[in-house]
Amino acid sequence: MSVNKAVIPVAGLGTRFLPATKSVPKEMLPVVDRPAIDYVVREAVESGCDDILFIAGRGKEAIENYFDRNVELEQVLGAKGDQARLDLVTETANLGHIHSIRQGEALGLGHAVLMAAEHVGDEAFAVLLGDDLIDTRTPVLPRMIEAQSEFGGSVLCLMEVPPETISMYGCAAVSPTDDPDIVRITDLVEKPPVEEAPSNLAIIGRYVISPAIFDLLRHTPPGRGGEIQVTDALQQLVSLPGDDGGGVTGVIFRGGRFDTGDKLSYLKATVTLALRDEEFGDEFGDWLRQFVGTGQ
Ligand code: G1P
Repeated sequence: MSVNKAVIPVAGLGTRFLPATKSVPKEMLPVVDRPAIDYVVREAVESGCDDILFIAGRGKEAIENYFDRNVELEQVLGAKGDQARLDLVTETANLGHIHSIRQGEALGLGHAVLMAAEHVGDEAFAVLLGDDLIDTRTPVLPRMIEAQSEFGGSVLCLMEVPPETISMYGCAAVSPTDDPDIVRITDLVEKPPVEEAPSNLAIIGRYVISPAIFDLLRHTPPGRGGEIQVTDALQQLVSLPGDDGGGVTGVIFRGGRFDTGDKLSYLKATVTLALRDEEFGDEFGDWLRQFVGTGQ
């Protein structure tokens, strides 16, 4: 059975981007000409998950509005005969089937995922975290969905990171398979101190998860940071028998990833994608080289 539901948690307060995020959800900050969340939803839909469920918090209405029709704007653009812009605003309203529920209290990523239980039902589902943008040139979610149909259970996206940065991520202990890009996960730990990390394989914000996780999440106590962690529930799936929806496989991702989670990495993502822009990328590159050369 193929995976067609994607859960996208968007309840975070975005405190690292204050004051901008005082009144604008961090997911709506533009990366070049689209809000960051647009890239993530497109990735889900292009991977076959056209049923999208946002797990939202208070003050996130702008995200729902972005993926809804804006009839007034459509009428104004239509009357002007501005078809190109009209296409831009109608296109985002037609990306997949968008649903949204409220998390109420932000008790952690595991808690956010648990909120999706009723909508998801008894199928494997994808989870995409908005801070990680995956380069469209090197997609990974379709490969993960394929791995899930091959091995069952759940599938995580793992990426080698410099060992000293592993404490920013969930970390996996793994054993190899015949395929260099596929590993069996033998243990998981959320944001371990460097000296306790079982590897330098970090969990990146793309998951394909067995519905067996919901029962586990209902009983998962708060972990790292006092929050209910999805990594802790996945860790319990590692040792659960395959017949009960257990087993966790890792897909090693060697492609491009842009982090939009803090100001510096957000700027790097913006510059990288701006340099690729068909309309002004070359001109921006010329300017940037000159700017870096002269320092102004
Ligand atoms: C979350 C997960 C962590 C994962 C990371 C990927 O952490 O808890 O396991 O490695 O996303 O971006 P966060 O960055 O939300 O604190």
